[in-house]
Amino acid sequence: EERVFSGIQPTGIPHLGNYLGALESWVRLQGQHGSVLYSIVDLHSITVPQDPARLRTSVLDVAASLIACGIDPERSILFQQSQVSEHTELCWVLGCLTSIPRLRHLPQWKQTKSNRKNEGSVGLFAYPILQAADILLYKSTHVPVGEDQIQHLELAQDTARIFNQKYGDCFPIPQPLLSVTRKVKSLRDPTSKMSKSDPRKLATVNITDTPDDIRLKFRKAVTDFTSEVTFDPENRPGVSNLVAIHAAVTGQTVEEVVHQSEGLETAQYKHVVAEAVIQKFSPIRAEVQRLRADAGYLEKVLSRGAEKAKERASVVYQEVRRRIGFS
Ligand code: TYM
Repeated sequence: EERVFSGIQPTGIPHLGNYLGALESWVRLQGQHGSVLYSIVDLHSITVPQDPARLRTSVLDVAASLIACGIDPERSILFQQSQVSEHTELCWVLGCLTSIPRLRHLPQWKQTKSNRKNEGSVGLFAYPILQAADILLYKSTHVPVGEDQIQHLELAQDTARIFNQKYGDCFPIPQPLLSVTRKVKSLRDPTSKMSKSDPRKLATVNITDTPDDIRLKFRKAVTDFTSEVTFDPENRPGVSNLVAIHAAVTGQTVEEVVHQSEGLETAQYKHVVAEAVIQKFSPIRAEVQRLRADAGYLEKVLSRGAEKAKERASVVYQEVRRRIGFS
């Protein structure tokens, strides 16, 4: 039986990288046997400072975005992480099985450490343990994520093994599911990933950007001095990123897209890609706007989702308690 779990941080409207790296697969995996849970991970988001009012809106914005992208609360369980207290409880248990050196080289911590010179909270350091708890709490078997989450997933696998060894077979070893477009690059710097926290305004395309914004961002996308459409991520990361995006939003292969675009100059090609992205996201954008206006509905979806998640989480956590000797 397959049990799917994944999460997204409530730090604003999701972007093209979230969509192509994860959300598209989330939608496809719904309605399977077993369970499918998707969580808006607000506990993870407070590992760096958040404004309370903005966090509250962000949770609802992300809920609206997920539903607009095709997450159906009837076919999957959509919930807010902090509403299911077992996430934090299991996090503590798993934290007691995790060594400090094992966490030191994981991405979230390394990134902050290099950005802010040794600042960073205990919560940020323990971030990957909470992520392992999210996954293991539902005895998940499959975790659809982008490439940037692989190291976190390896920690979840290690943690499951350590727990099983100490307390008996409890958790399956969760497997990552990577989409074809496992890493969408920044439009301003095709050697780094597209990210919500990128301060450069033109680097990140949100799924609710207006057609004009999308055209501008692609027009300004950093490429190279060869004016030709080829797919060569090593030597031509900029154009290759555009090709990968183009293929993904039109549901074609990279080869098909390159073949079709033979003879186009890069400037013309950017226009083609922008239009394809606009076409893909126009209906989603309209739907997000409609849903955002109905906070009551979104809150209802989340609290119903939390009830269903809690039912499952509490069964597993009871087993954990028993195995540890708490009850
Ligand atoms: P987050 O919120 O940063 O991103 C959500 C999902 O989007 C993927 N993603 C990308 N994929 C391709 N290209 C990109 N440029 C790109 N940027 C983001 C991420 O890989 C992710 O799948 N730690 C997680 C949230 C989390 C989680 C979990 C995930 C918490 N608990 C349990 C899976 C299972 C995160 O910060 O994702």
